[in-house]
Amino acid sequence: MLDPLSKFIFRNHDKVERNVTVLMVLSLLVVAVGGIVEIVPLFYISNTIEKVEGMRPYTPLELAGRNIYIAEGCYVCHSQQIRPMRDEVERYGHYSLAAESMYDHPFQWGSKRTGPDLARVGARYSDAWHVQHLIDPQSVVPESIMPKYGHLARNELKATDIAAHLKANERIGVPYTQDMIDNAYADLLTQASGMADARGLQERYPKAQARDFDGRPDVITEMDALVAYLQMLGTLVDFTDYEPLSHENLR
Ligand code: HEC
Repeated sequence: MLDPLSKFIFRNHDKVERNVTVLMVLSLLVVAVGGIVEIVPLFYISNTIEKVEGMRPYTPLELAGRNIYIAEGCYVCHSQQIRPMRDEVERYGHYSLAAESMYDHPFQWGSKRTGPDLARVGARYSDAWHVQHLIDPQSVVPESIMPKYGHLARNELKATDIAAHLKANERIGVPYTQDMIDNAYADLLTQASGMADARGLQERYPKAQARDFDGRPDVITEMDALVAYLQMLGTLVDFTDYEPLSHENLR
């Protein structure tokens, strides 16, 4: 014996399947309800983006480096998202938190990795290693298939418009202050020269590393910006005193 609802469905489903319009409308309805049930709770669950200590907006030089990273298409081969699986955590370090990419527009998540994940590459190698590796990857990793990026070391960084980039990010929710925007270009020069007094920079951007990144103190190159960005990746959150939100301590 079938219950009345099943009987009704059995009797009528061939009508739905033969009528394209009704089929589409009903499919849309099912997908919409499914979508709402999946997505809406994320806006209410407090640990969707869990607040963590240490995250800050990128410094102007790091942001310029990130722009180069995107322009050069590094994301085609590299992701910045360590998934909570044992092999990834053992290779790359603590799994990525949503908060670690909350200032990324666009974010760099993914799982297609022609090269290794870069979410925690910061401070793993020296600046000189990065410079040499970017100029000629095969000279440090002979079997590498990464392309050469020697032009970055030759191109002077054009960043007089960096304040506008901070402003654009501020518009879409990155908490850059007016003070940060006003000082953007000066902060960029300070961080890349390594010789100027970096106290103002580090007050605005805690843990900002100020030095000459590319080994050429006479000129600020695209390499300076890209290496500054790479050396910051994954270093902002201090995981020694990080405790994941569990259902236990949510209550
Ligand atoms: C065609 C794919 C490809 C592209 C594009 C590419 N890479 Fe790579 N990258 C690799 C591969 C493969 C490796 C691993 C071998 C090696 O270290 O060279 C690698 C390694 C690296 C490493 C060392 C990571 C580690 O943990 O050892 C860094 C840093 C890096 N790439 C940065 C970049 C940056 C920055 C760009 C863009 C300017 C870039 N890559 C573009 C393929 C690529």
